[in-house]
Amino acid sequence: MKPEILQIAAMLPSVEAALGEAYRVHRYWEAPDRAALLAEVGAGVRAIATDGHYGVPAEVMAACPQLGMAASYGVGYDGIDIAACKARGIRVSNTPDVLNDAVAELALGLMIGLCRRIPQADAYSREGRWTAGTFGLTGELTGAHAGILGLGRIGKEIARRLQACKMRVSYHGRREQAYEPYPYYADLEAMARDVDWLVVIAPGSAETRGLVSRRVLEALGPAGALVNVARGSLVDEDALVELLADGRLGGAALDVFADEPRVPEALLALPNVVLSPHQGSATHKTRAAMGDLVVGNLAAFFAGDPLLTPVA
Ligand code: NAP
Ligand code: 8YV
Repeated sequence: MKPEILQIAAMLPSVEAALGEAYRVHRYWEAPDRAALLAEVGAGVRAIATDGHYGVPAEVMAACPQLGMAASYGVGYDGIDIAACKARGIRVSNTPDVLNDAVAELALGLMIGLCRRIPQADAYSREGRWTAGTFGLTGELTGAHAGILGLGRIGKEIARRLQACKMRVSYHGRREQAYEPYPYYADLEAMARDVDWLVVIAPGSAETRGLVSRRVLEALGPAGALVNVARGSLVDEDALVELLADGRLGGAALDVFADEPRVPEALLALPNVVLSPHQGSATHKTRAAMGDLVVGNLAAFFAGDPLLTPVA
């Protein structure tokens, strides 16, 4: 008998195929009546495959008394109540490192898109406006100063790419990393005041909620731009929209939002913003590598081996 797992959200077809080989998979997100599915199969479910958005829903935890493992398809686990999992003895895994390059690449792409106005230039060309006159001049990354909030696994990859673009790089975190070559700011607002770009790539948590406050955004100022590829919760989104709209903040490149998949209406009309629908890790190669970790962590759990990439 294959062990029973509950799959909370859709994953790559190849990942779903691998899960289907090893387990009897109940497809939670597709169930027309999720409560009925839980009532029917919950007692037999020993693990779940989930992601950073859906986490471990409380109703799933309550309906699955044998639940011992949650394998998440993402590195950020702010959507998972780790304390509740620990209290129930539920192991948790995530997918660190394999997505560093893809997320860093998107951050750089968004920055180039914003400062070189690539979305607008694309529209300008497609709409045949070039024949009536040239598009005009833009800013550039070369020589500008970027401050990274969260010089972790992904932050370091972003830093390397920004250096390749001949930018100056500084960072803020809770502590200085003595062996990193970049100047450290103990104070985020002070860093925001000094830099042209503030790149947010720290985890979502109670501690980081609203860290990029109105004051930080004001310090970044009319010549500054915010890049958020971390979580919407880190930024005061109301202040962001207001400051962008009245020019007190120069621009923003955003892959994440406070209430995904909803994007604040007011951002849609702003010319100084580039938007992306949470695509940081969304490449074929990276999602396959993330899926391998989900499958590998579940296999380790059922074999009684140490998890490959444990969170708890
Ligand atoms: P990581 O290696 O743990 O790095 C996180 C960094 O944030 C560390 O350098 C840490 O430095 C800093 N940090 C943590 N708490 C902080 C605080 N309270 N104040 C200031 N800095 C703090 O994590 P990662 O693998 O790079 O991933 C970072 C996050 O990116 C994930 O948690 C996820 O939310 C997000 N992400 C988004 C996408 C996307 O698709 N857009 C994809 C992947 C990941 P200190 O410990 O020194 O403070
Ligand atoms: C995923 C992410 O898109 O890894 C993360 O933390 O935000 C992204 O890689 C997310 O986990 C949903 O699958």
